[in-house]
Amino acid sequence: MEQANRAQWRSKIGFILAATGSAVGLGNLWKFPYITWHNNGGAFVLIYLVSVVLIGWPIMMAEILIGRKTHESPVPAMEKLGPKGWSIVGWLGVLTGFVILGYYTVIAGWTITSFISCIQWSFSGYTPPADGAFGEFIGNGPLQILLAFIFMAATTLVIWKGINKGIEATTRILMPVLLGILIYLVIMVMFLPGRADTFKFLFNPNFGELPSTGILEAVGHAFFTLSLGMGVMITYGSYMGRGESITRNAVMVVFLDTFVAICACIIMYTIIFSAPGVAESVSGSTVGMLFITLPDLLYTEIPFGHIIAPIFYILVAFAALSSTISLLEVIVSLFIDKLKMTRHQATIIGSSFAFIVSIFSALSLGAVGIFSKFSFFGEGKEGVLSTLDHLAANWMLPVGGLLITLFVGWKLDKKIVEEELGLFNEDGSPKFTYQMFRFFIRFTAPIAILAVIIAVILGKDFS
Ligand code: PHE
Repeated sequence: MEQANRAQWRSKIGFILAATGSAVGLGNLWKFPYITWHNNGGAFVLIYLVSVVLIGWPIMMAEILIGRKTHESPVPAMEKLGPKGWSIVGWLGVLTGFVILGYYTVIAGWTITSFISCIQWSFSGYTPPADGAFGEFIGNGPLQILLAFIFMAATTLVIWKGINKGIEATTRILMPVLLGILIYLVIMVMFLPGRADTFKFLFNPNFGELPSTGILEAVGHAFFTLSLGMGVMITYGSYMGRGESITRNAVMVVFLDTFVAICACIIMYTIIFSAPGVAESVSGSTVGMLFITLPDLLYTEIPFGHIIAPIFYILVAFAALSSTISLLEVIVSLFIDKLKMTRHQATIIGSSFAFIVSIFSALSLGAVGIFSKFSFFGEGKEGVLSTLDHLAANWMLPVGGLLITLFVGWKLDKKIVEEELGLFNEDGSPKFTYQMFRFFIRFTAPIAILAVIIAVILGKDFS
């Protein structure tokens, strides 16, 4: 059944680097600090950690095992393992890939300009941007298209080069650099006075302060941040060799993703808490914290801010790039496996289609009226970019994730699961980890996801 010529990760940590690269992205550095802030910290963080363990970890295991068992991309993988209809999971994943790439590249593009501004400020002194400058910037259609194009082009280049020379070689450099920069920044902010407030805010749960929608928001975010529910981990798992432990890899990726998210909060909150009067005015907008509040504070309040700032935006750009790489790879691997294209054809066609979607997103931030104003999902979700974000995070990923739990928990032959995970004691009895996995994937995860989907139907937004 195995394909002799299918690429495999060359090094033992190839999978971990690539999968962590996919998981760590704008979800960790932009979205998580914002939603944690607006859900008042502590209790939300705790619930998020619980969802990561109860839902994120088992689905991560399930996706990797589907990929590793079949050595195929999501559509043919599901066709091999289940009755015909299940391949819908794979198709939905590819569609989700287009949807997420189609707006993620636009936001990722902002890191390029933030970086350039920071470099200029570092060398020639900080000049506060005029009021409304950010709105003007995102409303500049051609510039937004250009930035998204640069990001898409970088992604395309990596995928063009393939699994080993592209994804593995890139993440091998990006991930250690990213972790290094992150740890450096955490150490730097530890010297700031806002440190104590940050720890209290993050790690001192007070359930009275958790908004009622916080639990569901935490569950929804777990999917997005761990890149679950659209076949990324099936695809990356399909390049994993037989000798590797799925459990160990899944635990590492989940741990590293969570670690980065928490570090991002520590860095940003400490900076915010250290500047008098800023904490009260931060909550305003989603983009605000990372792209408006932070650059300003880095230059006005923080010792060595002129060194930290450009480094920080490189970090965000790298994290976003290793995520867009995985999104494009899901699409490209399907085109290769299912439509029998070469990698180069698949890369060009896949990224061109995704870029067309990006153009609409790029023009939906004020540049073109109809793209910016129409609204499927009601107030606050106007425009193509917000609509796509809402569609992916609230519908497509949770539905994809639910189907995976049902498939692996209830449909797939138990023997296949046992063989792939190999979690047995010498006397043949299942290990505790296995029993836990089985319980989570059959019961806890699907029930929690259903709760999210029902909440979405009743009108709660997770994007
Ligand atoms: N996990 C990525 C992030 O946190 C986003 C992503 C979602 C990437 C789904 C791939 C698939 O930014």
